[in-house]
Amino acid sequence: MRYDVITLFPELISGYFEDSLIKRARKQGIISVELHQLRDYATDKHKQVDDSPYGGGSGMLLKPDVLGRAVEAVKEKSDIKPVVVYLSPQGKKFNNKLARELSKKERFILVCGRYEGVDQRFIDLYVDMEVSIGDYVLSGGELPAAVFIDAVSRFIPGVVGNEDSVSTDSFENDGLKYPQYTKPREFGGIEVPEVLLSGNHSKIEKWREHASKEVTKKKRKDLA
Ligand code: ADE
Repeated sequence: MRYDVITLFPELISGYFEDSLIKRARKQGIISVELHQLRDYATDKHKQVDDSPYGGGSGMLLKPDVLGRAVEAVKEKSDIKPVVVYLSPQGKKFNNKLARELSKKERFILVCGRYEGVDQRFIDLYVDMEVSIGDYVLSGGELPAAVFIDAVSRFIPGVVGNEDSVSTDSFENDGLKYPQYTKPREFGGIEVPEVLLSGNHSKIEKWREHASKEVTKKKRKDLA
């Protein structure tokens, strides 16, 4: 999987991809993440990327010509046909199901907005899919892009060391994950549930299934 991210602030997220799971997957060549500075595609002498909205109103909009030029140029950096995603609070709501579906694609160009948004014509002409990571407004698309890359990559074989750990994650079985415990056996007066010490795998499996349902009912009635 190849991700190309177009942003005015690559340094906001570069660190994230240089560590953890994503770093390992990049090293192994399973995924690649390339960050591109949007301002490099501004052609005037001030390198202007934004302008005020027609009709008035607050804030500045990213210019469609600069965004379009960036997407065209970044597309050329690989022969793989990309899906162009614009991260925006108006997009399709992102969740694990969507992340799993998208993990089957080969390449994404992720466009991060800033300021009040982007000129609609850029969306109309260049964007295949608008994605929102939740019903709240962030200052830009950089954190959403990092969230997107992390969650999608977890579904690509080889990215998470233990495949089993993805299949037991929250949401993968239509509910939340069961409670987990490590040493010590007793902490703050609370004992680790006896069954987990039994070594009886089918019993443990059953307990986890049940506990997962209970936790989902308690914390997320909407999923139960
Ligand atoms: N940009 C700003 N807020 C966002 C959100 N909630 N999801 C995706 N992109 C965004």
